[in-house]
Amino acid sequence: MSSGARSRADSARILGQLLAGKGSLTSLLPQTGEQPDAALVQEMCFGVCRYYFALRQLIDEQLSKPLRAKDRDIDGLLLTGAYQIFCMRIPDHAAVNETVQAASLLKKPWARGLLNGVLRKLSAAEPRWQQLLETGPEPVRLLHPQWLIDRIRSDWPDHWQDILAAGNLRAPMTLRVNRLKTSVEDYLAALSTAGIAAHRGRFAASCLYLEAPGPVDRLPGFRAGLCSVQDEASQLVPGLLELAPAQRVLDACAAPGGKTAHCLESEPSLTSLTAVDIDARRARSIEENLRRLELHAELKVADAADTDSWWDGQPFQRILLDAPCSATGVIRRHPDIKLLRTPAEVEHLAVRQQELLQRLWACLEPGGLLLYTTCSLLKQENQATIARFLERTADAKHQAIEADWGLECEFGRQLFPDPEGSDGFYYAVIRKSGAAGRFHENYHSRR
Ligand SMILES: C[S@@+](CC[C@H](N)C(=O)[O-])C[C@H]1O[C@@H](n2cnc3c(N)ncnc32)[C@H](O)[C@@H]1O
Repeated sequence: MSSGARSRADSARILGQLLAGKGSLTSLLPQTGEQPDAALVQEMCFGVCRYYFALRQLIDEQLSKPLRAKDRDIDGLLLTGAYQIFCMRIPDHAAVNETVQAASLLKKPWARGLLNGVLRKLSAAEPRWQQLLETGPEPVRLLHPQWLIDRIRSDWPDHWQDILAAGNLRAPMTLRVNRLKTSVEDYLAALSTAGIAAHRGRFAASCLYLEAPGPVDRLPGFRAGLCSVQDEASQLVPGLLELAPAQRVLDACAAPGGKTAHCLESEPSLTSLTAVDIDARRARSIEENLRRLELHAELKVADAADTDSWWDGQPFQRILLDAPCSATGVIRRHPDIKLLRTPAEVEHLAVRQQELLQRLWACLEPGGLLLYTTCSLLKQENQATIARFLERTADAKHQAIEADWGLECEFGRQLFPDPEGSDGFYYAVIRKSGAAGRFHENYHSRR
């Protein structure tokens, strides 16, 4: 069997599992890991999710009845075949042949006739495809689920169309230069010498955009920690935290450690940085990232809200709560969110975010600052969460973010996904009333 058929079968298996609710692209794609066609499998899986609602409509128009739940892999093959026909530069006959052959690899040779019939019809359906993208129902035309279209339109009546359009694009590859080891200028020169075109970010001083994405091993000094891959929006965090020497800092939801590392790179004279994450596997990636960058943090695998289980009682001067969220600001990087996320999940996340805020507040020193961030675009997880928290917490004061980026909201600041720039991201700064540093002074004078 050809490697072409194998990559179609791999994509179909992954998409079948995704459609069955058995994982995300992030959890399912590594199965293809080192295989030579991993890049093609990734392209097809990401592409199918990006265009899912239009591909679905076109395929359903060709099927007399839906496929059975146990044949979701065949559904995955139909989607993979349709994506190749409409969105990839693969000749239609090759796309159809390789996809039909893949049915045998899935041990479902009975499906060859079905696949052949549907995909051949689709290869003559370019006008219908264009028509759907221009005038189809909203989810088909805008390539997002209806509930999310409704939510974004209602939250951002002046921006919703641009937000949805940006969510359908491919994200740029963005780097954070480790300014403990090199300067942005020197690193730009090193990239240029390596034949990699790049330009500076618009808001974050450490940020570089690559003109074209590529493997990290091609980046000069990547293994030695000269740079990391991180979106520009995330790189605004250390500045907003107002880091200074001798602070005790908590990063409450830290894995895989992008912001932990950036805080340490930005302010190397912190007294300590404690990085907490609930997920042991993800927490290991903090360790790996810090090792590569030669940085150090106190790592704890724990539910950050269960402060009794991990906190030694010494207050922090700075807390970053990069909360678990719907990730609706990073759909272009994780297009499977369009298929996986539900309104019920958003409800659940909002409850969790509130709980984390309230429990972590006790760990903040009077005068200290908590930065709440999400990569969500939904007000329920952002402004509404902060408004509710401020209402219930007498010693919490919202601090406006003065900046030349994003949209100033009643509480916090919102960045929308920018086709050539940052992801969608939300930030709110909350200050705890009381004398700054009083705990710190008392604590040290007692010792
Ligand atoms: C948005 S990601 C954090 C990204 C990270 N700050 C970075 O910049 O690399 C959210 C993280 O929160 C973790 N998480 C979710 N619930 C948590 C909880 N109750 N306590 C601690 N970590 C939690 C997840 O495992 C996930 O790694």
